Amino acid sequence: MCGIVGYIGPREAYPILIKGLHRLEYRGYDSAGVALINNSGTLSIYKAKGKVQQLEEFSQQKDISGTIGIAHTRWATHGEPNYQNAHPHFSMSESIALIHNGIIENYAVLKEALIKKGFEFRSNTDTEVLVHLIDFIKREENTDLCRAIQLALQQGEGEFFLASDATPIVEYTKEVVYLNDNEVAIIERGKELRVVDFMNSEKSHKIQHLELTISQLERGEYEHFMLKEIFEQPRTIRDCMRGRINIEGNNVVLSGVLDNTEKFKNARRIIIVACGTSWHAALIGEHLIESLCRIPVEVEYASEFRYRNPVIYEDDIVIAISQSGETADTLAAVELSRSKGAFIYGICNAVGSSIPRNTNSGSYIHVGPEIGVASTKAFTGQVTVLAMLALTIAKVKETISQKELEGFVAELSQIPDKIEKILEKSDKIKKFSRIFTYAKNFIYLGRGFSYPAALEGALKLKEISYIHAEGYPAAEMKHGPIALIDSDMPVVVIATKNNLYEKVVSNIQEIKARNGRVIAIVTEGDTQVSKLADFCIEVPDTHEYLDPLLSVIPLQLLAYHIAVTKGRDVDQPRNLAKSVTVE
Ligand code: G6P
Repeated sequence: MCGIVGYIGPREAYPILIKGLHRLEYRGYDSAGVALINNSGTLSIYKAKGKVQQLEEFSQQKDISGTIGIAHTRWATHGEPNYQNAHPHFSMSESIALIHNGIIENYAVLKEALIKKGFEFRSNTDTEVLVHLIDFIKREENTDLCRAIQLALQQGEGEFFLASDATPIVEYTKEVVYLNDNEVAIIERGKELRVVDFMNSEKSHKIQHLELTISQLERGEYEHFMLKEIFEQPRTIRDCMRGRINIEGNNVVLSGVLDNTEKFKNARRIIIVACGTSWHAALIGEHLIESLCRIPVEVEYASEFRYRNPVIYEDDIVIAISQSGETADTLAAVELSRSKGAFIYGICNAVGSSIPRNTNSGSYIHVGPEIGVASTKAFTGQVTVLAMLALTIAKVKETISQKELEGFVAELSQIPDKIEKILEKSDKIKKFSRIFTYAKNFIYLGRGFSYPAALEGALKLKEISYIHAEGYPAAEMKHGPIALIDSDMPVVVIATKNNLYEKVVSNIQEIKARNGRVIAIVTEGDTQVSKLADFCIEVPDTHEYLDPLLSVIPLQLLAYHIAVTKGRDVDQPRNLAKSVTVE
């Protein structure tokens, strides 16, 4: 939530900050602002409601010179998105400017105390409370300003960049330092980076090397990042499997599991915690692990789990799935599980983020930075890792035969080619998606492995088109949602070939009997459903367990094309943020 970027060095700060803010805009785009110290030492703040573009327009006629600066793009928590609440916030004396990412939970009490001491507030934010408090302590204690924030990054030649993640600084340096909780980075011109804790004790810090490249952060020929990311999936899944799937040797090697074979062999239970799209991937993981490894699995919304006083045993394995690796609730669920002695395994995308740093082991999904707020390639990467994880555990526990394993390996390795075939249908989906832009509601149905894919399809549609959409297990339709079906109601049904196929066909008949409009995802060559459905999208055949990796692709495209036709801001839909670092 919120993006922060800062610069101190010999260059002009403003262009670096603005470029950085554009890259971080996915984290929030309610308002944006910069604070700059010009060469005569004057501190100025420029901010604007709306996107970074608005800030640029606003600051056009201003003095934007200076080699020290901080900048912020906001996702509103305390106070509506407006000019007053935009960051940076000034202290009363206007000598300190603050940007901040996160929540100050006791801000109300602090604010009251500061008001009593004569402080005046211009905004409703918790950040302004913090800046006044810093100002107050600095004066009262006659001490140095040492209330620095978030991530510190170092370049050898006497310049430092700081940012919420590595994207704003990748073209300037490949060397990064990740801060842990309760650590403060002190960066001063001409001095070495220091990391201290709140008691001012020195902490050691490791310089890590970034793999990220600039081209991964650019949209290229695509109209939106989301479309680029949908089309990247054949490659990202190949990257995800590289070095882990060995087709010649018919083998799967997931080192995070193999390094901890005893833990997985003796696991009493696996609990998967996640939020949003990652939670849908977790539901597929549950099917995969239970079917292949015969270990009981529970899937939990991290936000519910952490506050439920859950039963966690020392021989439980807790798997945390998170694209960003920064989701506050998932991180808290990890910390809770750790404190109870469980073994924690992370499945994340952002290398070096907080969740991987707080786990015992794990696997990165290696799909590259995901910029579109609606997750696409991260979902298929997560499912791919979960499939490899289940197969590796099954091998270790000997709950899978060599022949079955070989079958899976062969199927998995063909998934990227099969996705390429589905992507060729994008134009067809675009054409018929126009018919459905009128709809106010959608229902998505699927069974077994397709049920989480239906949930994910519905989530994609509501996130970016703002059309209300619900995913249901197909058989549950008659316990409620069927009452909604009439000639205005589009129903998306995943009706690929599997052992529940005939039952899903009956559901389609029930929808048609009530004049519902059916968009069906079917297996290539299907003749039965195509006679019933209004529109059919064919996907290649695969193993039932891997089917969501294929059936989700047309659902991503359907949501995308509907949203574009409706003129929505696909990459930055209203009210959402990519990295939810507040609970
Ligand atoms: C936000 C994003 C979703 C994402 C969810 C969980 O809501 O908009 O796309 O699925 O957070 O994020 P994570 O980074 O933990 O996977």
